[in-house]
Amino acid sequence: MPHTPDLPVARTIAELRQTVSGWKRQGFTVGFVPTMGALHEGHQTLVREAGLRADRVVASVFVNPTQFAAHEDLGAYPRQEARDAELLAGAGCALMYAPAVEEMYPADATTTISVGAPAEGLEGAFRPQMFGGVALVVAKLLNQVQPHVAVFGEKDFQQLIVVRRLVRDLDIPVEIVGSPTIRDGHGLALSSRNAYLSAEQLEVARRLNGVLAEAGAKASAGGALPAIESEAATALLEVGFSHVDYVAVRRAEDLGEFAGGTVDGPARVLAAAWLGKTRLIDNMAI
Ligand code: PAF
Repeated sequence: MPHTPDLPVARTIAELRQTVSGWKRQGFTVGFVPTMGALHEGHQTLVREAGLRADRVVASVFVNPTQFAAHEDLGAYPRQEARDAELLAGAGCALMYAPAVEEMYPADATTTISVGAPAEGLEGAFRPQMFGGVALVVAKLLNQVQPHVAVFGEKDFQQLIVVRRLVRDLDIPVEIVGSPTIRDGHGLALSSRNAYLSAEQLEVARRLNGVLAEAGAKASAGGALPAIESEAATALLEVGFSHVDYVAVRRAEDLGEFAGGTVDGPARVLAAAWLGKTRLIDNMAI
């Protein structure tokens, strides 16, 4: 198995628990960053954020099959464990947890988790299997690691909302921290899926955040949301996106719709759009 000697790697729940319980016996607090690998600067920021809030940081690298639909990119999802270990070590991570699929999901496992409203609509409408899979693996990872604090990127904003609800509803004793999206010099949100983009597609991708910022500005000026959302979707097609799943302005707290059709409280603009076979998401506060 490839790994960097500098960063300890736990492959089983037992190995993970041995290390983490050792830390706890020494009085250390534990931070946790769940990832699917193919790490970049955005993940390193999450690890550093966890390191500011806890004495020891565990990061999991697990490409979770239950959150991918059959037609999605599970098989093609980039895997680069040795480099991931280097990046984690560089950001101050103390342990990489990289279980095999069989360790995470015994063949006779039958439990599922449905989070309800926060997981419906937006990503939930276009990737119906995703948040059930995310909720299941995040609940399992939090039970396996038992951290004091866990850090999630705001890049997957709906995921963050779903995880907050999951943890509250299941009384999982962990503090969930959202960490702001890291962007390249052109404002493109860093994502493992950016690796799929051609040079031309990258130029188009870099327009996404500008279109969202403009929609956000119009929304905060009191514009009618349905018109703002459909204009932004048209603008994305005009700059070269192949297809737009959604552009939506929602309540920041729970991603519910604004009943009056205009923004009247903390809001978030969110979008998902395709460049060829690559699906990009982004969001920002309004
Ligand atoms: O955001 C991700 O990378 C994944 O959805 C997560 C939280 C690691 C669960 O598989």
